[in-house]
Amino acid sequence: MTLFSAELSLRDEAQTRRLATALGAHLRPGDVILLSGDIGAGKTAFARALIRSLQDVPEDVPSPTFTLVQVYDTRQGEVWHADLYRIARVSEIEELGLSDAFASAICLIEWPDRLGDLTPPGALDLALSIAGADDDTRIARLSWTDARWSAPVAAMVSAFSPVEAR
Ligand SMILES: Nc1ncnc2c1ncn2[C@@H]1O[C@H](COP(=O)(O)OP(=O)(O)OP(=O)(O)O)[C@@H](O)[C@H]1O
Ligand SMILES: [Mg+2]
Repeated sequence: MTLFSAELSLRDEAQTRRLATALGAHLRPGDVILLSGDIGAGKTAFARALIRSLQDVPEDVPSPTFTLVQVYDTRQGEVWHADLYRIARVSEIEELGLSDAFASAICLIEWPDRLGDLTPPGALDLALSIAGADDDTRIARLSWTDARWSAPVAAMVSAFSPVEAR
């Protein structure tokens, strides 16, 4: 099993939105994106931009911190946006219906470490980190094993100039 990876530097939130839009254009039901990173790294900002880019009339996309899951209708099918930070047991994840959604919807999952054995093996992993305390730069690290992600990631990288991709 080969692990592929790519890394991009996002200098402000507009660049994060651009990256999210570039990925969104390639998504279809059954795709799962695991959004990891510390509190405030930009997971919700990324998910919000992605969801809104797939809607003709963009909706409000609140953080699912308390609801755990929010579901959106988009041009490319249903999108499930989950925040698993408050999940204590894997059984709660089953109760949310996430396992079925992994097969039938586009899923954007914050705090995916809570999934444990339920982590879909074909998911795209996107880890965000804060580059420095005093600016808006975020580092996005993409990793995947499923060849399904090669073209979407190429599109994400090419949404940035060669100087910005590294
Ligand atoms: N380059 C950037 N990309 C994304 N967000 C940025 C960027 N620069 C600044 N921000 C700001 O960082 C914050 C990111 O918050 P967000 O809620 O998206 O984080 P999160 O990773 O979802 O955190 P949590 O773990 O609490 O859910 C927002 O206030 C956003 O405006
Ligand atoms: Mg969040």
